[in-house]
Amino acid sequence: MNPRKILVTGGAGYIGSHTVRQLLREGHEVTVVDNLSKGHRHNVPEACLFEMDLADTESLARLMRKRRCEAVIHFAAFIAVGESMRLPSKYFVNNVSGSLSLLSAMVETGVRHIVFSSTAAVYGDPASSPIRENFPIQALNPYGESKVMVERILEWYDRIHNLTSVCLRYFNASGADPEGGLGEQHDPETHLIPLIFRAIQTGQPLTVFGDDYPTPDGTCVRDYIHVNDLAQAHILALEYLIQGGASERFNVGTGIGHTVLETIRTVEAVAGKKVPYVVGPRRDGDAPALVASSDKLRQKLGWSPKYADLRTIVEHAWKFASKEL
Ligand code: UFG
Repeated sequence: MNPRKILVTGGAGYIGSHTVRQLLREGHEVTVVDNLSKGHRHNVPEACLFEMDLADTESLARLMRKRRCEAVIHFAAFIAVGESMRLPSKYFVNNVSGSLSLLSAMVETGVRHIVFSSTAAVYGDPASSPIRENFPIQALNPYGESKVMVERILEWYDRIHNLTSVCLRYFNASGADPEGGLGEQHDPETHLIPLIFRAIQTGQPLTVFGDDYPTPDGTCVRDYIHVNDLAQAHILALEYLIQGGASERFNVGTGIGHTVLETIRTVEAVAGKKVPYVVGPRRDGDAPALVASSDKLRQKLGWSPKYADLRTIVEHAWKFASKEL
């Protein structure tokens, strides 16, 4: 692949920083825009990082011109489902109007390709599994709805401005770069695997949210996808768009589901320690099972996950977490 000049929003965050590292490894020129409200300065090389808010359309356009960006990967967004149920406007303002500001800067500067971070949350509670891209869209919370809105806005920008996009609908991003130095560091942390680690490290039991779902052991099933495999999907999508590919939506997952209890057992095997946990009530808005069909991504972009098994994902995440805490 030819070296490209890429703008990455939210590049100092979890998935963004892994993607930036992979882009740099492949020889691309990367410009990271991050307001550091959630991301970490130490996640990206200083020379790439521009501390800037997405709402600042003029500065974004100036930077894109100066750095001669050819395409954008857009991660910057708030991601906490529970918080979005309490503070919907925070999610609509940041995720939707931030994206609109970015799109204005792209139109103004003639940048015509964008890879967008979408989510399995756009499917809500689907009737069957594995989930395909043509399943009904029915977000159950403002976070998911904000992603649906941006997906729809992108359709109009294609029709009106010839701006092509790939929306990647992530399942459960997890793991860490095996080379070290990058990993999951959310504040507050809401994701299962880092919370299982925290239970081991603090002795405070994890709460398993419900064990009466219609699943093999009663706990929720999720499709855990290694963050480096997600990063690779972005790079393939980017090249596809630059080569003239039409706008598309792809699921990104392994196609394999694991229950919460299976995930706990996998962590116990990797860490060699018991995980203290208690079973609590269901968490509002949790779907019983979310497993991707990624056939479209495999067939159309030639993607395939390198670290598809949960044990490897947990090993990489544990390596990072046991150094951090
Ligand atoms: N879980 C627990 N206890 C916890 C935390 C999580 O039992 O303390 C369970 C949840 O109920 C769920 C599973 O672990 O069944 C995974 O939960 P996460 O919070 O790690 O992830 P989600 O599946 O809720 O959410 C993820 C992303 C969202 C995205 C969603 C799409 O974090 O951004 O997938 O399905 F919207």
